[in-house]
Amino acid sequence: MILNTELEYKGNLFPSKIVSYEKNLNVLSFTCTNGVVLQVTVRRDSILRFRFSTTGIFENDFSYAITKYASRGYNKLEVTEDDANYIITTSKLICRISKLDLRTSIYDAKDKSLICEDELGFHWEESYEHGGDVVKMSKTSQPGESYYGLGDKPVDNNLKGKRFENWATDSYAYGRDTDPIYKTIPFYTALHNKKSYGIFFDNTFRSFFDFSHERRNITSFWAQGGEMNYYFIYGPEMSDVVVNYTDLTGKPHEMPALWTLGYHQCKWSYYPESNVKEVTAKFRDLKIPCDAIYLDIDYMEGFRCFTWSEEYFPNPKRMVKELADDGFKTIVIIDPGIKIDMDYSVFREGLEKDYFCKRADGPYMKGKVWPGECYFPDFTNPEVREWWANLFQELVEDIGVKGVWNDMNEPAVMDVPGKTFPNDVRHDYDGNQCSHRKAHNVYGMQMARATYQGLKKFSYPKRPFVITRAAYSGTQRYTSSWTGDNIATWDHLTIANLQAQRMCMSGFSFIGSDIGGFAEQPNGELYARWIQLGIFHPFCRTHSSGDHGDQEPWAFGTAITDVVRKFIEIRYQLLPYLYTAFWRYAEEGIPILKSLVLYDQHDPHTHYRNDEFIFGEKILACPITGPNQTGRRMYIPIGKWYNFWSDEVVEGGTEQWVDADLDSMPIFVKEGAIIPKYPIQQYVGEKTIDELTLDVYYKEGKESSEVYEDATDGYDYIKGRYSLRTFKLLGKKKELIIQQHKSGKFITTYKTFKVSLHGLPFKIKEVEIDNVVIPFKDLKLNGDNTLVLNKEFNELHLMA
Ligand code: GLC
Repeated sequence: MILNTELEYKGNLFPSKIVSYEKNLNVLSFTCTNGVVLQVTVRRDSILRFRFSTTGIFENDFSYAITKYASRGYNKLEVTEDDANYIITTSKLICRISKLDLRTSIYDAKDKSLICEDELGFHWEESYEHGGDVVKMSKTSQPGESYYGLGDKPVDNNLKGKRFENWATDSYAYGRDTDPIYKTIPFYTALHNKKSYGIFFDNTFRSFFDFSHERRNITSFWAQGGEMNYYFIYGPEMSDVVVNYTDLTGKPHEMPALWTLGYHQCKWSYYPESNVKEVTAKFRDLKIPCDAIYLDIDYMEGFRCFTWSEEYFPNPKRMVKELADDGFKTIVIIDPGIKIDMDYSVFREGLEKDYFCKRADGPYMKGKVWPGECYFPDFTNPEVREWWANLFQELVEDIGVKGVWNDMNEPAVMDVPGKTFPNDVRHDYDGNQCSHRKAHNVYGMQMARATYQGLKKFSYPKRPFVITRAAYSGTQRYTSSWTGDNIATWDHLTIANLQAQRMCMSGFSFIGSDIGGFAEQPNGELYARWIQLGIFHPFCRTHSSGDHGDQEPWAFGTAITDVVRKFIEIRYQLLPYLYTAFWRYAEEGIPILKSLVLYDQHDPHTHYRNDEFIFGEKILACPITGPNQTGRRMYIPIGKWYNFWSDEVVEGGTEQWVDADLDSMPIFVKEGAIIPKYPIQQYVGEKTIDELTLDVYYKEGKESSEVYEDATDGYDYIKGRYSLRTFKLLGKKKELIIQQHKSGKFITTYKTFKVSLHGLPFKIKEVEIDNVVIPFKDLKLNGDNTLVLNKEFNELHLMA
């Protein structure tokens, strides 16, 4: 039984016998003698939605998580019955529903193996205090089953044996195993017998997941209100589970501008203006690439959102322009708390229009945050979101701010026990009025959504950029995110790695940590090692609380500065590679970082690995997570991999020692990969790209790679003005063939590729392009390592 639901205990109640069954296209309803109804919706051949009502009446079907763009449709749907069960069959799944008690079991349609089965199945307690039910589900853990996902939980990849809570929480200086923290992503993937499925429990109330913790063979989840409403997503490949979950809850609505994938510098706080300028000038002096500079709360007048401190920033428009001329995009923080002050127009307007949250009996929800006592917009009201979006006009259109950072949106309230609103606060919830119990976990998401709408409107024709701290499933459609207030310790470097991988597995790839740690101060070695990890995170930003000393790349002496520069330069060289991975994510939902289990679930060695991950499709990285290391042991996945630094080829499938002095880290490239690189720039757009480097890693066999490019910003790519190159590599003992296929109408500025060959096992005697022999001098053939050729080729053929 599930313990500790912390509500008035009225005993568990269960569905009884099915008395009627109804089929309405893809919606199947099963009604029990005691009035319980199970509605199964066949969304796709591999996705079933289960929804239970204990009264026979369902709530209005509304979800902030599910996107209207989600794919629907199936190839097969049959419902049959035998004495004991109703049996739903699609082309991927067979789902049996017991006529006795609604318990379900799901099988692979092809080999009929058991994938997932209810233990007690759906059951509930009535909630005396709040009305409605505490809704519960328990399932049997299969032998050897492992669990992954759940968003930002700061724990090892495999969740087995643990219990978690979902309640967005401001968690300053959280640590390993702190739970819950900022985000609520009630989605996990499970893996057993080499097959994977996922469960998304789309319920925004405080919820819990127990992975064989309370009872060894049982996995359960429950929520303190709302409906038992979950999606079962079948793989059997874990990557398909994640892709389908991301399809359901949404991919980013647009590609990020390329500069947002550059390096960002932040601190609480850079002020006054002269300090901001000193920092940005130093980046350019020291030739450390950087694209964005952040203004934390001190840029405002008394922490009033949408104001500027006249003392510290007398002319923000001029400053933002000067920064932009030097390649820096200015990003400002905006929190939800609006200072109670009748002389402050945003407050007055919110009050006049009745946009602030209220307590159950009528008073406003008053709480202390940075500005002192505040009221809080109800972002779950669409009218409030529109008002909020329009507040960005001056910041973005007039002053030229390029991104907005939403913080404290769990929502955080200071000096109160729960660190947030009390449960009785009322919310609109897009017309489904409710209390904070239901709206809490989506408050931050709806704030970020409103901010996104504002940025999208006023940045046009450029793309919007938003960062959020709190999130619910689906928030990835609107914004990037960071992992909150971590600490400058080695363990936190490990935690940042886990959190980024886990977020990517949970449909949210645009993620990074405060590099170097937010609280306390790293030494140079820790900072350098953290930068090494950070350049592989989709969002790459140094941030610190600022009260423990400096945390800029040059704050730890020249030896560290050199290491930091070297790695940020690698990030900038790899921008077309990362952009391509982002495009795959935005188009198809393929996560940008892949934990090893996600990369190769068939290799049981990957099931408990934590540190190693795949960046994009072809690069394996593993941070050094402790002091005084000259290398580490790491697991190399099955296959052949090139050491990024030495080109030495290693055979994977085992744990191996890899050298990595402080100016290095373990990085490998998959054999056969073609990695695109740009020249080092101090910021995106500093240089016109006049040649694209293609690092080609020889393989005996086949491999395909791709490069996506567009105007780096704007929306033309949606109208087909992008450039997608697919390279098919075929290596033989004495030949290497690369075929290129191009699509899209965007014309890249460069005309040539510089092909850099790695591991070629023969000396080139002849080169053919599109079946014509080309003299070596026309190719600038340099030894057997590099050659330059026109980007339009269809087939490059190197022969011994
Ligand atoms: C919160 C944020 C942090 C920010 C600070 C001041 O602690 O998590 O990133 O710097 O508030 O705004």
